Amino acid sequence: MEEIRVKPVERLEGVIRVPGDKSISHRAVFLGSLAEGISEITGFSGSEDCLATVRAFQSLGVKIEGIGTENLTVEGKGLSGLKEPENVIDVGNSGTTARLLLGVLSGQSFSSVITGDDSLRKRPMARVTEPLRKMGARILGRKGVNLAPLTIKGGDLKPLDYTSPIASAQVKSAILLAGLQAKGETRVTEPAKSRDHTEKMLKYLGAKIKSEKLTVSLEGPGKLQGKRIFVPGDISSASFFIVAASLLEGSRILVENVGINPTRTGIIEVLKKMGANLALKNGREECGEMIADIEVRGSRLKGITLRGKIIPRIIDEIPILAVAASLARGKTVIREARELRVKETDRIAAMTENLRRMGVTIEELDDGMVIQGAKNLQGAKGESFGDHRIAMSLIVAGLAAQTETVVYDTECIKTSFPSFMPTLKKLAKS
Ligand code: S3P
Repeated sequence: MEEIRVKPVERLEGVIRVPGDKSISHRAVFLGSLAEGISEITGFSGSEDCLATVRAFQSLGVKIEGIGTENLTVEGKGLSGLKEPENVIDVGNSGTTARLLLGVLSGQSFSSVITGDDSLRKRPMARVTEPLRKMGARILGRKGVNLAPLTIKGGDLKPLDYTSPIASAQVKSAILLAGLQAKGETRVTEPAKSRDHTEKMLKYLGAKIKSEKLTVSLEGPGKLQGKRIFVPGDISSASFFIVAASLLEGSRILVENVGINPTRTGIIEVLKKMGANLALKNGREECGEMIADIEVRGSRLKGITLRGKIIPRIIDEIPILAVAASLARGKTVIREARELRVKETDRIAAMTENLRRMGVTIEELDDGMVIQGAKNLQGAKGESFGDHRIAMSLIVAGLAAQTETVVYDTECIKTSFPSFMPTLKKLAKS
């Protein structure tokens, strides 16, 4: 098992870029494959999760070139040109691949099976399989069609007007991808707005789709036209450096070319409220998505209360925000974030355990955490529990600790950010 030893550093300094946005990269391959004609994707994320999506569509007969680079060419097959896969589709650790694929395969005229790694096979799928079954999909799986392996016998689908009990872009996207293949209007209403990359890209490629407040409606069957798709840098990956630079006095970094879709910028708003010194520069738009360069300087942070509508907008950043809170003045309360318990690992339990080892006073709640900010963190032995965002959060905590930290089980970092350590080394000054 790989481990990373982290020595405290004085500050971060320099200019970096982060890999292409993982959510947008997945969608570029999904929608490029379902479109007619060629999609040229630039800035594609080289993460393991996105490669799982590429392999899945290759197994469905889609020709994809440029694998291993940031520039992919996808030869779209249209809505009914995919072929039955010859084997089980293994999506590895990628929940996004699994859930969005369920939406696509539900409308195809063949059978397929989706599975994944140990973590993926524990993650809840009923949130997607239940509405898809209402649309007419025939899906079988373990524990009441909740756990993979899942078998899908695709076919004709009916449109659905669905009110989702959770704010989840994966649920919303799976239903929209099924709705794209059904005749009539499919609507999804969510309790709070989740990331809207699927809606934006569907619109960009020509689907008839409208968003009004918390409801998205799509007219099916849709016809997508392949196009050039530009993927901006991933704000969730940038967040590790944004927090690290905020915590280390004297830091000054610029993260260029970051996606700043408003459904993803909760991290910027929260850190600003905590007192961070952040500036967005050079704002521009590409393929319906907003992009900017983010400048960060070190500053003293203060505690904050986080609950309600902000939670889906920071859902992947809560582990690194917990690190920021550990070194902030005063108390931070995070509530209504129970979803963290069903991510790649239980992120509430994982952060509570690891931050306690670093000397932080932290209370674990059913739906969040209460963190007492401290002056210092102690170096400690940290466990990723196989979760990339836990591993990277602990490495950042280690940079700001008093003594060396060892983070165990760090291979998982490649799930989203294979070049994380070289990028960090470029910035670290001691
Ligand atoms: C994602 C949606 C979120 C997020 C995940 C990526 C997506 O999951 O946590 O990392 O690309 O749609 P949920 O939809 O389960 O909230």
